[in-house]
Amino acid sequence: MTKAKPQGKTKHPRLSFPAKFISFEGIDGCGKSTLIESLSSWLEKAGIPFIRTREPGGTRIGEKIRELLLDPGSAEMNGRAEVLLYSASRAQLTDEVIIPNIKNGTWVLTDRYVDATFAYQGFGRGFDLEKLKAIQEWTTKDVWPDKAILLDCDVEIALGRITSRNGKKDRIEQENRIFHEKVREGYLALAEMEPERFLVLDAERPLENVIEEFYNRFWLVDVEG
Ligand code: TMP
Repeated sequence: MTKAKPQGKTKHPRLSFPAKFISFEGIDGCGKSTLIESLSSWLEKAGIPFIRTREPGGTRIGEKIRELLLDPGSAEMNGRAEVLLYSASRAQLTDEVIIPNIKNGTWVLTDRYVDATFAYQGFGRGFDLEKLKAIQEWTTKDVWPDKAILLDCDVEIALGRITSRNGKKDRIEQENRIFHEKVREGYLALAEMEPERFLVLDAERPLENVIEEFYNRFWLVDVEG
């Protein structure tokens, strides 16, 4: 691997921060963590400063909100409260972690961001996408990922991975298969709407193949290209 150029400019029309902001998306069990792990080691080898974070969470307040959101004991939480809590965690993350780091030239890799709200609360729960978009523009101060890496995977396979991983499912993972199908279709619809911002990878294949495709279609093109 040749030395990467750390100065790639964000493609967001309203901002020109020097570092890249990348989100990893997909249904639960799609394999995001392993890919984030892989990109982290490339960045390390290339000498590019980066941080990893996650949603919901990533800040002291966000992690408390995460507990509330994912606790199966929060079963009575209504959909609007759910949207606002995910957004509250994101607002905190945006100001504390995302904006300061990308301004500093530090890449930000996040396990989920705004597109998760569109996929889960928009397509999964049926909330109006335009309304969610307006909330997210406010929540994020309009700072959007340069690239959303979407790991697409069959729902049965993905949910099977969660079960074999720890046996315990959080409040969202406990939703039925139909909900997760809607989320998967939602992610694919979002990627179709914004093909430049998304990179869709077939995550049903062995991990080495997913990583290889990621390398060829993201690293070689967007980083070293
Ligand atoms: P994870 O960190 O293990 O991926 O868990 C987060 C869960 O929360 C996952 O099921 C996806 C869900 N989620 C939403 O429903 N909306 C959101 O905006 C985000 C960030 C996550």
